[in-house]
Amino acid sequence: MFKALADYGRLLRAGTALARHDVILPGEYHSRLPFPAKLAGKTLRIFGGGAKGRPGKRLATALEKLGPAYIKLGQFLATRPDVFGVETTSDLSRLKDKLPPFSMKAAQAALEAEFGEEAARLFPDLSDPIAAASLAQVHRMQTEDGAKAVKILRPRVEILIDRELRAMKRAARTVERVNVESRRLAPVAFTETVAESMEKELDLRLEAGGADEMRELSFKAGYYFVPAVDWERSGKRVLTTEWVDGKPLTDPEAAETPGIDRSTLANTVTRGFLDHAIHHGVFHADMHEGNMIVTPDGRLALVDFGIIGRIGMNERRFLAEILWGFLNRDYHRVAEVHFEAGYVPPEKSVGDFAQALRSVGEPIHGKAAADVSMGRLLLQLLDFTHTFGMQLRPELVLLQKTMVQVEGVARTIDPEHDIWAAAEPVVKDWITQNLGPAGAAKLVAQNVKDVADRLKRLPEVMDQFEAKLNAPEPEPLPRERFAPWWGWMGFFLAIVAAIVIVSST
Ligand SMILES: Nc1ncnc2c1ncn2[C@@H]1O[C@H](COP(=O)(O)OP(=O)(O)O)[C@@H](O)[C@H]1O
Ligand SMILES: [Mg+2]
Repeated sequence: MFKALADYGRLLRAGTALARHDVILPGEYHSRLPFPAKLAGKTLRIFGGGAKGRPGKRLATALEKLGPAYIKLGQFLATRPDVFGVETTSDLSRLKDKLPPFSMKAAQAALEAEFGEEAARLFPDLSDPIAAASLAQVHRMQTEDGAKAVKILRPRVEILIDRELRAMKRAARTVERVNVESRRLAPVAFTETVAESMEKELDLRLEAGGADEMRELSFKAGYYFVPAVDWERSGKRVLTTEWVDGKPLTDPEAAETPGIDRSTLANTVTRGFLDHAIHHGVFHADMHEGNMIVTPDGRLALVDFGIIGRIGMNERRFLAEILWGFLNRDYHRVAEVHFEAGYVPPEKSVGDFAQALRSVGEPIHGKAAADVSMGRLLLQLLDFTHTFGMQLRPELVLLQKTMVQVEGVARTIDPEHDIWAAAEPVVKDWITQNLGPAGAAKLVAQNVKDVADRLKRLPEVMDQFEAKLNAPEPEPLPRERFAPWWGWMGFFLAIVAAIVIVSST
């Protein structure tokens, strides 16, 4: 009971912040709303004090004010251009994740809680925080075996996030129960996914594992430098890695480092990312400028491994073949790949699909490479597959979103960057290795293994399926209870009352 009240209190606070920034019933959608909603929207805008900018920007500002859980929610929404539209998600992806640092005393307390008496020996002289974000802050530290970066979670951040998540889940359940239409967007499943990904980011042991895996990969692939994890000084709430000297790409001087050539650096960004994704199926899924550091000896270092993307053999092959198909204008092949990967239902026509792809690809060939975004092209493709009756694969969406990031970074470094030319050698290598005569046999073997792996998982899948069948369908509440005008008026008055209360405190 108290929990529920507390949850509603939190939701009311969130609702008020969103309303003040004119996000709940935005003026932009005015003409599509029923009369009571129009009226409510107008009144909210009067109280909102004239929030400015596009809806995505206003949403970003409101979420920043609401704190860590909402900032993360916004970052998550930013990865779904397929659901929320390209404009809104690109506004959301600029959501700032900077907060005032917490005190040195709290940092020391966190180290003691994690390492007990050893803390003083392991962390002899921590610097003031050098970066502070919604979940953690980073300090520099000199030790006998070199300088280190120490990332420490904010005090009580797990508890705060847990509470907000519980409220969000409650809201999602209510929306799904009350509004049958909303079930198509699966709000409950969506909040569960957000919660799961936040919980992962709150365990720095997982980030340590990700960092170590990416370091191993970086030696194999040879494009990036990834600092080593200091296992002795890492735990659930603390992650220590080797310190990387240099300038992050957020610093305009980073690309001016002596010995650095802008075009080579931009190519490294693009090729490294595609190589990791296509050749190894693993990629850093948060490739923004703040997470890339140019070292004085001209290497490009990556930090921050909170989100690692993974794509299976099917998706890797899909990615390589569509890029190859577009590079060679072979639309029929690109279409076949979609069918072979099972992305488009078999009863659809390959010819029709190839025709749709041609309409995406041909306009590209008349344009300068710098005007054609690979990330956007991938989005258009995913859009088409949607039209042709397929469900989007979340891991491909994450890849597509990161590709947009990577392109943005590469073009900031070198405005002339040609992502297609940069991609070609990586894609060509993979195609020759895997789809040439020797590669074909390997691929067959891999496919057999994939099928065998799926068969092994079958009993588990059947169990889940059965559990779903047995679970009682939530009874939809009768629509009439919510449809009449007094229902709307009640909602409207509740929000107005909330705004008045909050504004007067
Ligand atoms: N190993 C490192 N060496 C040097 N600077 C680092 C290192 N790790 C992190 N940083 C700096 O700290 C900032 C925040 O660290 P990061 O891991 O990206 O945390 P967050 O998840 O909060 O973004 C980075 O943008 C970078 O400037
Ligand atoms: Mg970061």
